[in-house]
Amino acid sequence: MSRRPLIAGNWKMNGLKADGLALAKGVAEKLKADKLACEMLVCPPFLLVAAVAEAVAGSGLAVGGQDCHAKVSGAHTGDTSPVMLKDAGASYVILGHSERRTDHGETDAGVKAKAEAALAAGLSAIVCIGETLAQRDAGQTLDVNKSQLRGSWPEGGNAANTVIAYEPVWAIGTGRVATPEQAQEVHAAIRAELAAMIGAEEAAKVRILYGGSMKPDNAAQLLALADVDGGLIGGAALKADDFWAIAKAAG
Ligand code: G3P
Repeated sequence: MSRRPLIAGNWKMNGLKADGLALAKGVAEKLKADKLACEMLVCPPFLLVAAVAEAVAGSGLAVGGQDCHAKVSGAHTGDTSPVMLKDAGASYVILGHSERRTDHGETDAGVKAKAEAALAAGLSAIVCIGETLAQRDAGQTLDVNKSQLRGSWPEGGNAANTVIAYEPVWAIGTGRVATPEQAQEVHAAIRAELAAMIGAEEAAKVRILYGGSMKPDNAAQLLALADVDGGLIGGAALKADDFWAIAKAAG
């Protein structure tokens, strides 16, 4: 089964307008000069989505948000709807990142509702799941990931509109990356669970990204794994050269 790798940058709460535009344009320029087989995506903070989308238009670099509300509009002070993201030029949205689950108390049910709203707005959802170190140490890794997957997966989700990002919490921003064995074990378990949920044929087409301290020097071995279909990259996505090197490793 050939799945087109997705190399996605999650900028988190980093960068002012000038930095973000320079970074996005830097990646877009490389992409225009050297078309890669993989798909590339940047997810800036909300305030930069429209400007970045405009700056990279026509380059092939996709733009996404880092969260969205489950409603299209209304009295939700400070929130951003998936329709607004789409209108600003986004084609993806990251949902259920562990930082949002921790900082904002997001639950699987809430992530599922947001993902369904995102799909209805015409966005593709990148649904994040992953265990904490305590859960891993307690031998709960596969159960936690399967449960988050089942709870967060949107109704109507399929390989064309939903991507899973496996991000072990203990590997995010820590420099401690999952070993290839650890990553492949969880990715394969996620795909097996997806097969039980949406059928083996569809599950075989769903892209499952790895996230957590992916860098130019460890990307190739992770991206070569049978069930790893790209990366969701934080720190290394803030430098155009590093992000590009990871994309090159994906092919
Ligand atoms: O969403 C990406 C992420 O959480 C990984 O961050 O900095 O470990 O690559 P980082």
